[in-house]
Amino acid sequence: MMLSERDLIHWGEQVGAAVELPIFLGLRGQLGAGKSVLARAIARGAGVEGAMPSPTFNLLFRYPARGEAEVVHLDLYRLREPDELWELGWEELGQDAELVMVEWPERAGEHLPGDRWDIHLTAPEPGSSLRMVQVHRVGAPPHLPGFPVTLERG
Ligand SMILES: Nc1ncnc2c1ncn2[C@@H]1O[C@H](COP(=O)(O)OP(=O)(O)O)[C@@H](O)[C@H]1O
Ligand SMILES: [Mg+2]
Repeated sequence: MMLSERDLIHWGEQVGAAVELPIFLGLRGQLGAGKSVLARAIARGAGVEGAMPSPTFNLLFRYPARGEAEVVHLDLYRLREPDELWELGWEELGQDAELVMVEWPERAGEHLPGDRWDIHLTAPEPGSSLRMVQVHRVGAPPHLPGFPVTLERG
């Protein structure tokens, strides 16, 4: 599936608005693939308001969302070793009404939860405004809304 930025954002907002919690989403892809664009769209759909700076140095930001929901946005690019995860409270993540999104989830290695979605974004060529979106279910996470994406235009 190839999506424009507009369509990716639209799908993300659908996911955030309708997804059952808790859920864990791994966002994969190279620098500039659109992981943060998608994370912000999902968070907005879940009711997060205001700016969402990149958790590049903090590694983790937490936001109140609709109702009891909380969005947890991580970027593990700068994680040096998987053991640093404990300082972030990694073991407690994915409980209650948390919507957990992790950029560079591969940095967590074997510590990734067994029930999750992996969403892989790839630009077909440098500078393209389209992204190939591949979604893999691992274990038995809640249903991912709007997938395959129904594109609404207009
Ligand atoms: N179809 C698309 N989907 C997502 N982002 C896109 C798309 N086309 C172009 N872009 C651009 O690619 C960049 C993605 O940046 P970002 O989400 O920060 O990447 P990452 O977090 O994966 O490093 C943004 O500048 C965005 O405007
Ligand atoms: Mg990013």
